[in-house]
Amino acid sequence: MNFPTTRLRRLRGTQTIRNMVNETKVDLDDLIMPLFAIYGSKVKNPIKSMPGNYQLSVDLLVEECKLLFDKGIQSVLLFGIPEHKDETGMVATDENSIVARAIRAIKKELPEMYVIADICNCEYTTHGHCGTIINGDVDNDSTLETLAMQAVNFANAGVDMVAPSDMMDGRVGIIRESLDENKYSNIPIMAYSAKYASAFYGPFRDAAESAPQFGNRATYQMNPSNVNEAMREIELDIFEGADIVMVKPALSYLDVIRRTKDLFNIPIAAYNVSGEFSMVKAAAEKGWIDEERIVKEVLTSIKRAGSNIIITYHAKQFADYIK
Ligand code: PBG
Repeated sequence: MNFPTTRLRRLRGTQTIRNMVNETKVDLDDLIMPLFAIYGSKVKNPIKSMPGNYQLSVDLLVEECKLLFDKGIQSVLLFGIPEHKDETGMVATDENSIVARAIRAIKKELPEMYVIADICNCEYTTHGHCGTIINGDVDNDSTLETLAMQAVNFANAGVDMVAPSDMMDGRVGIIRESLDENKYSNIPIMAYSAKYASAFYGPFRDAAESAPQFGNRATYQMNPSNVNEAMREIELDIFEGADIVMVKPALSYLDVIRRTKDLFNIPIAAYNVSGEFSMVKAAAEKGWIDEERIVKEVLTSIKRAGSNIIITYHAKQFADYIK
């Protein structure tokens, strides 16, 4: 049937009918809020390039988690800013490392909060790269060892899930093996599988103090032009034991999310990264866009593309929008 018999506007006539035929709904259960832990007490350092986000000392981080949980956000992704950095990121494998402390404190005060830890070395190395440097580049296999130790350390602290973001080959397998050897076979791995070498991470590197001091991350993160390669990364991570695969960033990579959804039967997470967040904030501050509508549209588009889980700095605000 064609026009005039068929008229698609019939199902757009009122809010009620629009709701009835609505195909995509973002739920608070889908969202994960990233948080940044720093040493000290009562520390709340605003992250200039990410309005509304802070480096929080563990005491305040726990308070923030309580607030988030009350609003319906039941999962957080932790990053840490250590007191001292070293050459290989071993600081993160100490049982009193900043993220290990944060995990313990949250799980003690608010056991229902689902705590995920990012596994990477870039916040912990003096050079800001995601692994151990040998001959001017990140060495894959020696980095795997530090990553596996970091994952086990966070598991010892009580983390609910680990999320390796380093893009070393073989990291999911070795982390799975190490967790299992240490009796953590029940801890899932959410792998940053298709993680692109993206300019959208700029504000995050201010937040986590993790900008590379030389070169860039192009020898380990993916070329933004490639999607077949992303499918290979995802396939390998699934074989190595990933429970959830991630595409990151989200908005310039919605096609990658969709391809993943069409090709694999596994839960997909998408990371609505710092630059994507900050662009919305900056335009909203200037009064150039309607922030609430943009945030809802952004998150809906990521879900519509095929993502089950969305990691987003908008999570807290979104909870207020839909309450
Ligand atoms: C660590 C890591 C990064 C992000 C998440 N984990 C930064 C990077 O790879 O440089 C980016 C998150 C964001 O931009 O919000 N490797």
